[in-house]
Amino acid sequence: MADLKGKIAVVTGATRGIGEASARALDAAGARVVLTGRTVSDLDRVSADLANDPITIESDLSAAHAAQSLAEEVLSRVDGIDILVNNAGIPMRRTPHELTEEDFDRVFDINVKALLFLTLGLAPSMIARGGGSVINISSVASLRGPLGRVAYAGTKGAVDAMTRALAADWGADGIRVNAICPGLIATAIWEDNRRNIPGLIERMEEQIALKRWGYGDDVADVVLFFASDASRYVTGEVIAVDGGMARVGSAPRAKEQQ
Ligand SMILES: NC(=O)c1ccc[n+]([C@@H]2O[C@H](COP(=O)([O-])OP(=O)(O)OC[C@H]3O[C@@H](n4cnc5c(N)ncnc54)[C@H](OP(=O)(O)O)[C@@H]3O)[C@@H](O)[C@H]2O)c1
Repeated sequence: MADLKGKIAVVTGATRGIGEASARALDAAGARVVLTGRTVSDLDRVSADLANDPITIESDLSAAHAAQSLAEEVLSRVDGIDILVNNAGIPMRRTPHELTEEDFDRVFDINVKALLFLTLGLAPSMIARGGGSVINISSVASLRGPLGRVAYAGTKGAVDAMTRALAADWGADGIRVNAICPGLIATAIWEDNRRNIPGLIERMEEQIALKRWGYGDDVADVVLFFASDASRYVTGEVIAVDGGMARVGSAPRAKEQQ
């Protein structure tokens, strides 16, 4: 088990899903967690279960300069941070024919611009504390060409590229920067598709080597790895946590297992 006692961690999008699971895991490992998101009731719900004096900050990352304001707010509440989990993100299912410039701007504003400027705002405090770990939540959409999601895939490709670039920029300062590409994780992000595209979930599950959905904990355990000393010699990496969806062949399920 990772030992993160004395560490301060920020998790964006900690109100549910992968962010909630990550906040809970970091707290259980001993870190003090700063939880951010828009839904105050969920920030309160999650933080009420945490043991290490958690902090909640309401923040909508789609607004102009929101990331810079959030960084300032964080640094007004704690002396500096050691771990940043850039998890907040939105999906965008649009065919090339449907996609508008407004759609493009919205998904890039939250998934790319806010992620970068929050990181830039908090990194100096990591450097002042002798280094840290930035963990970007990307997607398998960056590793293979998903149907009907060109803008979303573009945001996650940008996250992967920025992960490597920042790892180069900050290696000498002791900041490690890595990305996790979740596959099919059972969170609220899938609710609309589950309702509106019959059979989609089952078809996608068949493409996964391990033949099951992932859960928030499957990703949070890898967040813990990157947050802890266990990954002390790993930076600039982009790792799929997808049960073998993006890069592994997948045989159909045996009849008796169906
Ligand atoms: N689930 C999957 O299958 C999957 C696969 C690949 C990648 N991912 C990535 O994993 C990350 C988390 O996804 P999830 O499945 O856990 O999604 P989710 O359940 O929909 O949670 C998304 C989180 O982001 C926050 N958020 C959304 N819009 C925001 C905004 N404008 N400002 C601030 N926070 C905002 C939400 O909080 P509020 O609504 O309270 O603001 C929520 O906490 C995303 O980056 C997503 O792209 C997920």
